[in-house]
Amino acid sequence: RRLAELTTLRLGGPARSVVRCDDTDSLVTTVGELDSAGEPVLLIGGGSNLVIGDDGFDGTAVLIATSGIEYGDEAGRPYVTAEAGNDWDALVADTVAAGFGGLECLSGIPGAAGTTPVQNVGAYGVEVADVLRSVRLFDRATGSVEWVSPESLGMAYRTSVLKGRDDHVVLAVSFWLNPDGVSAPIAYRELARVLGVDEGGTTEAAQVRAQVLALRAGKGMVLDDGDHDTWSAGSFFTNPIVAEAEADAVLARIADRLGDDVSIPRYPADAGVKLSAGWLIERAGFTKGFPGDDAPVRLSTKHTLALTNRGSATTADLLALAARVRDGVRDAFGVDLHPEPVFVNCRLPR
Ligand code: EPU
Repeated sequence: RRLAELTTLRLGGPARSVVRCDDTDSLVTTVGELDSAGEPVLLIGGGSNLVIGDDGFDGTAVLIATSGIEYGDEAGRPYVTAEAGNDWDALVADTVAAGFGGLECLSGIPGAAGTTPVQNVGAYGVEVADVLRSVRLFDRATGSVEWVSPESLGMAYRTSVLKGRDDHVVLAVSFWLNPDGVSAPIAYRELARVLGVDEGGTTEAAQVRAQVLALRAGKGMVLDDGDHDTWSAGSFFTNPIVAEAEADAVLARIADRLGDDVSIPRYPADAGVKLSAGWLIERAGFTKGFPGDDAPVRLSTKHTLALTNRGSATTADLLALAARVRDGVRDAFGVDLHPEPVFVNCRLPR
């Protein structure tokens, strides 16, 4: 079975076999048995952050399809606990419909609930680290199953200690919620504007969800089989963080290239400034839809940060365009872009 069917990029060759696990016990047993047998295992949740090579995976792909959701209350504070295989957006929708706020800014993000802490998913001013209560992990080396606290997971911008290594399997994730349908504070300017609330204020979670879905759809960031702009892994690169010591020189180089009157989007970050990868890509000459109509892989026609499969692409095509964009931004501005998805049996050419 081609793994392309299991990824949102619709790319990836075959696996030796694919096993689907519908409950947590069978997930633990299956991975344990494959490990004991020395069989390579590829864990697949929503497949939205995976770039799988054209040769596929020489082992067994384990499809995490668990689906339990439970609400609870701890010292007066509500929470939801979801098994890893839940569709993330369906979980967000469930919490909002059940009258809880907190997750609504993360509406419309493709993928499975269990992978959200791994890359510390974030959008519209909220990231998983802000709302994470606990993560249930299966340790493949020792066979133990444990709930661990967010503090032990090294959550940072689009990463955690779980990213890029498969020695632990996320079995379930628990998130803090707000009662009475109150949203998280609206920290993203564009969102505050369309909602008509002050930055930092709160409103009804259901309204925020609707607006976030509309904003994302406008950028081609909500999955739609009929729209190739959504055949992507979301943002292909993280927003680059330039160290304090280099920031002035980098900003001066950009201004030198583009003219002194250009307003460079930038945000404060730990130990430096965060620049906008989408903006840098576009200003380096890779405009929306690059390199044009007939190409098998193009930048989304709605957002330069998404690399998209137009239907007949191979992973090699994707990697070639990614390398071209990365090199072009480095040549233009001296800024290094780093890919965000996890690569399986393939890598970006140097
Ligand atoms: N921009 C352009 N051209 C474009 C797109 C963006 O010039 O085609 C510039 C604009 O100046 C814009 C700025 O880039 O104001 C930022 O764009 P946007 O608000 O779309 O955010 P982003 O930095 O591209 C990040 C996350 C997204 C998340 C959005 C919304 C990363 C790597 N990406 O994108 O997350 O949905 O903010 O909060 O942090 C993902 O990680 O897969 C993802 C989709």
